[in-house]
Amino acid sequence: MSYANIQLFPKVSYRFDSVDSTNAAAIRAINAGEWPEPGAVFWAEGQSQGRGQGGKHWHATPGANLTVSIVAYPSHLPLHALFALNQLAGIAVAHTVQAFLPAEWQDAVRLKWPNDVYVGQQKIAGILVQNGLRGNQLAWSVLGIGLNVNEAAFPAELAASATSLQILTRRAHDREAVATQLWQALSASYARTAPDQLAALGDQYHHLLYRLNVAAHYREVATGQSFQGTILGVDAAGQLRLGLEDGTEKAFSLQQLLFL
Ligand code: BTN
Repeated sequence: MSYANIQLFPKVSYRFDSVDSTNAAAIRAINAGEWPEPGAVFWAEGQSQGRGQGGKHWHATPGANLTVSIVAYPSHLPLHALFALNQLAGIAVAHTVQAFLPAEWQDAVRLKWPNDVYVGQQKIAGILVQNGLRGNQLAWSVLGIGLNVNEAAFPAELAASATSLQILTRRAHDREAVATQLWQALSASYARTAPDQLAALGDQYHHLLYRLNVAAHYREVATGQSFQGTILGVDAAGQLRLGLEDGTEKAFSLQQLLFL
């Protein structure tokens, strides 16, 4: 098999004024046998049931942001390397955000595991990757991205923890320009899912990790106990590796851990 054609260029765009969820719309098209072409973009101005990680709702004021889902068929990826999809999407969105921020803020753009995009202590983008299998092979993947571009103000419960390009730079941004940057960044990082590039993809992700090598507090969901840990990285299965105070190391899945 040749990996030279591992690329993701958006050629087709399905635009909706309003839809339940762009991820759901893309998955419906796939399940209906329409097989949107690789890189096809489902783009909505507004979503009535925008989906976030862990069944949460995704807030976005209609017409202000990017709420998009990109279809890919990464059948070259072995199932044990699925987390590469979260990594590639996170890296691409982080690089897109960096492109619209001043040079002195570049280091503040981080990936809060698994793939929330942060600027400083505030979330600017969320990513929901959904995959479908055929037998024990990856058949399709939908990369759902919500990027806060021109959100001017968030509801009270999000005001402290969320931000947008407009809030940070005090000016509105052309969403088409942000989208063009995003497609380029996605194509570049998608190419890095080729087998001989996966290690480089993992390194890029590692260096963008929020709180990397920083001691901070976490809570284990099962016990309710809080503890101090230091993020060491992410393992091949996508679990977060924390160094503990007693010198040991433990890996956590998303359901097992809360950031404090
Ligand atoms: C998260 O932060 O929990 C993930 C949020 C992902 C939101 C995007 S918006 C476009 C796409 N469609 C959805 O329903 N969700 C994703």
